[in-house]
Amino acid sequence: MEIDHDDHHQDPMSMSAHLHRISRSRMREAFTISMKSALALLVVAFLSVFLYTTFSSTNLLLSCPCCDVLPHRITWPANETDAPTNISHVMFGIGGSVKTWDTRRHYCEIWWQPKITRGFIWLEESPPNNVSWPVSSPPYRVSTNISQTRNSSCWYCSRPSIRIARVIKESFDLGLTNIRWFVMGDDDTVFFTENLLTVLSKYDHKQKYYIGATSESLDQNVMHSYRMAYGGGGFAISYPLAAELVKILDGCISRYAPMYGSDQMVQGCISEIGVPLTTELGFHQLDIRKSPYGLLAAHPLAPLLSLHHLDYVDPLFPSTTQQSSLNRLRTAYNLDPGRALQHTFCHDLTRNWSISISWGYTIQLYPSLMTANDLEVAPLTFQTWRAWSDGPFTFETRPVDLNPCQQPVVYFLDGATKAGPSQTLTTYGRHVEEGEKCNLRGYIVAREVKRFKVSASKLDPKTWTKAPSRECCEVINARRGTGKVVEVKIRSCNPWESVSPP
Ligand SMILES: *[C@@H]1O[C@H](CO)[C@@H](O)[C@H](O)[C@H]1NC(C)=O
Ligand SMILES: *[C@@H]1O[C@H](CO)[C@@H](O)[C@H](O)[C@H]1NC(C)=O
Ligand SMILES: *[C@@H]1O[C@H](CO)[C@@H](O)[C@H](O)[C@H]1NC(C)=O
Ligand SMILES: *[C@@H]1O[C@H](CO)[C@@H](O)[C@H](O)[C@H]1NC(C)=O
Ligand SMILES: *[C@@H]1O[C@H](CO)[C@@H](O)[C@H](O)[C@H]1NC(C)=O
Repeated sequence: MEIDHDDHHQDPMSMSAHLHRISRSRMREAFTISMKSALALLVVAFLSVFLYTTFSSTNLLLSCPCCDVLPHRITWPANETDAPTNISHVMFGIGGSVKTWDTRRHYCEIWWQPKITRGFIWLEESPPNNVSWPVSSPPYRVSTNISQTRNSSCWYCSRPSIRIARVIKESFDLGLTNIRWFVMGDDDTVFFTENLLTVLSKYDHKQKYYIGATSESLDQNVMHSYRMAYGGGGFAISYPLAAELVKILDGCISRYAPMYGSDQMVQGCISEIGVPLTTELGFHQLDIRKSPYGLLAAHPLAPLLSLHHLDYVDPLFPSTTQQSSLNRLRTAYNLDPGRALQHTFCHDLTRNWSISISWGYTIQLYPSLMTANDLEVAPLTFQTWRAWSDGPFTFETRPVDLNPCQQPVVYFLDGATKAGPSQTLTTYGRHVEEGEKCNLRGYIVAREVKRFKVSASKLDPKTWTKAPSRECCEVINARRGTGKVVEVKIRSCNPWESVSPP
């Protein structure tokens, strides 16, 4: 086999000529390259001037309906006090759209407090009736149109996602002062801001934090990520992390642009900074179908922070709309935010009952002694987001038994009042189901209970900085009660107290 490799046969003389030739051609090449890069530089410079003049004339602030908040850039750490975190330290960035705003604005308006909550809803264009933008809504901003500048060749990229992923950057770039946290959400995310502050206050806002929760449906986490905060549930980014994130965001988004969601792009960029997700179980993406009842009736021991996808699940309360369900839930929430949906259960040993309370929402009465370990688990009243199947979920569920003699008698919140400086009284009326078929004596007696009255003292937000532990409850009118109204008191557990059947 002949290997034609004539370099090996050259004499030194022609070798040096050859080297000379090479270096000459290299020089020519280098010259061409430098000419090319100079040209490229010129083009870039020209383009930047062009883009600058184009975009500075369509200044974002022109679309600002409340132009009293003028941008004022600060560098971190700003000279701020170590005062406790309050609502003024949180900047919300809501990813919205002109197309869905009218049908979704009530989800924002229920938690937004004009002139108190800070932040904007980001739209793709000016709303048609921008002159009469409702004062009850978050003020809006129009996102920069990225169509011409980024990824115009990426036909498969989701442009709305890129726009929403940039909300954190556009919010940051406004340079508002004294921001400790940037909280991102969708226009159909309902935040519970008092609890959000309780939770954010646990963390040092001068460090880099990325706080949120994953999806309830396992298939979603398999498909997207287990490491990301799902955007609809909302997530919080501390100021120092936001500062690093926005610096790399645009370059970074182009790396993750083929991804499906803006939340995933943001997570991709945060992973480049090296900050993992800190999970807070009160954020609810609600990637579920049908009734969220079971999930909310067995809420984890964590403050309620958000609810999402409420247009895709049954109303929280039966025979009413989602909007009035939320209003009803908030009557109790407003009295004692930290206690909302907190799960407690107790046994009534005079009647062998198990009572499972989700404060401010629902009570399940089982005419039998169930273990705490069973009561803690969410009854499966819902299905997965993608496949509408009975699981798997990222938390435990227990099937709702088809046998009516295994199902609870259910009560829903129908009243919430203040019963003292730091006392509340919530009442729960019986939900009458069609075809209550169980005729065991225990069930007939249980169904006679028309109402629960639950007294509790306000939950101290500091509770959430301590080791988590469920509170206890007891039936206080077991002996003298008529049977129609059961009075329950929620209190901290006594030493050595546990929910153990005799
Ligand atoms: C209102 O909308 C019009 C037309 O879409 C636009 O030209 C104008 O700048 C908008 N004004 C504000 C305050 O956003
Ligand atoms: C912030 O800094 C300015 C000047 O650097 C100073 O006058 C002011 O007192 C500081 N404020 C606080 C709250 O430390
Ligand atoms: C929030 O805290 C700041 C101090 O950082 C204080 O100046 C402001 O009055 C507080 N706002 C509210 C609403 O409590
Ligand atoms: C953004 O710019 C593109 C290209 O100029 C244009 O087709 C599109 O309508 C713009 N989008 C909005 C929402 O203004
Ligand atoms: C409660 O259950 C225990 C043990 O199963 C039983 O001995 C007792 O009679 C029951 N009490 C009532 C009131 O049903």
